[in-house]
Amino acid sequence: MTPILKVAIVGVGIGDSHATAFERLRDRFAVTLLCDADQARAEKLAARIAAQGLPRPRIVADYRDAAVTGPDVDIVDVCLPPWLHYDATCRAIAGGKHVICEKPLAASLAEVDEIAQLAKVRSVTVMPVFQYRFGNGLVKAKHLMASGVAGKVFLTSIETHWSRKADYYTVKWRGQKATELGGILASHAIHVHDMLTCLVGEVRAVNAMTTVRVNPIETEDCAGALFEMADGSIAVSSATLGSVDEISRLRICCERVTMVSSLGPYTPDRDPWAFIPRMPDDKAVIETELARVPAAEEGYVLQFAQFHASLGEGRDPPVTLADGRRSLELLSALYHAARTGQKVILPIGADHPTYRGWLAQ
Ligand SMILES: NC(=O)c1ccc[n+]([C@@H]2O[C@H](COP(=O)([O-])OP(=O)(O)OC[C@H]3O[C@@H](n4cnc5c(N)ncnc54)[C@H](O)[C@@H]3O)[C@@H](O)[C@H]2O)c1
Repeated sequence: MTPILKVAIVGVGIGDSHATAFERLRDRFAVTLLCDADQARAEKLAARIAAQGLPRPRIVADYRDAAVTGPDVDIVDVCLPPWLHYDATCRAIAGGKHVICEKPLAASLAEVDEIAQLAKVRSVTVMPVFQYRFGNGLVKAKHLMASGVAGKVFLTSIETHWSRKADYYTVKWRGQKATELGGILASHAIHVHDMLTCLVGEVRAVNAMTTVRVNPIETEDCAGALFEMADGSIAVSSATLGSVDEISRLRICCERVTMVSSLGPYTPDRDPWAFIPRMPDDKAVIETELARVPAAEEGYVLQFAQFHASLGEGRDPPVTLADGRRSLELLSALYHAARTGQKVILPIGADHPTYRGWLAQ
């Protein structure tokens, strides 16, 4: 049995939600350190943790503080603004710590390859966060595809229609290429595009368009993308931060079933999904298969629980560095396609103009 692992949460914005998941998993994780430049924010979270009868975490202000990689920490959970992910991750690895890192993992494929090399040398595990992979709806869809019941995929349509107004951009790192590392593709649609690859598989080529239309920012807030999937199917994605109501949706049209996700903007992976049989006779087969998938915990709780188990059993984490890399490879291709107006074929090699950064061309 793996012991309780001690976690330093670095950045307590979304880190607050990570803390909630660790609290639920208190038999497996203990948050021993909070790190945030905003001390009041960290104090508030520390007080909440203590109010539940859990030990109050120590607080430090800078992610470069030696305490972050000190003996009281087994895992550094990087929830900083995107431009700091790479540095914070490398420091944690150098200190011999496992890493959980929010999306996007780094600013380039070159950085991810470096992280992978460092992690190998120090024998530590780096797990990117993609909690949208863990919803019961998505797990059912994955099961129907893996069991062969869904049949071949024809076309997937994807919507990330969210709303962001001026108040969202009062946080300085948002809306700027150097600090957010991109706009709606890098920060928001990244989840549903990861769901696409998780369900339908590798992407062979992309076309894309991006524009800034909703807020006066530097990073794109509307995007359209076409994906040629390795299985031969097509996916079409539309993403905007200027929708009145907020939805996320995947609609996967397959040979024997059309699978439609729930619409929760931040939980499209969760129930209820609709599984609509193409032929009435398939209804019973689909229902039988769906009944084989037990409902489980979802989101961060399930991702972190599986991470704990994977460390104990010495196997790959539930989201691997290769998964995080694939997501950034797709981003690199999408931004290059949008910039050049050309179709971009994957994989992106070390000689590709975006290998050292999709923004730095
Ligand atoms: N997986 C998801 O669904 C999800 C949701 C929201 C955000 N995110 C990701 O999480 C990351 C953080 O986003 P957020 O919305 O929580 O941002 P945020 O600005 O609300 O929080 C980041 C925190 O980092 C702190 N910080 C900044 N620089 C620091 C430094 N040098 N040392 C210590 N602390 C520092 C800030 O004070 C702030 O409290 C981003 O990469 C974002 O894309 C993921």
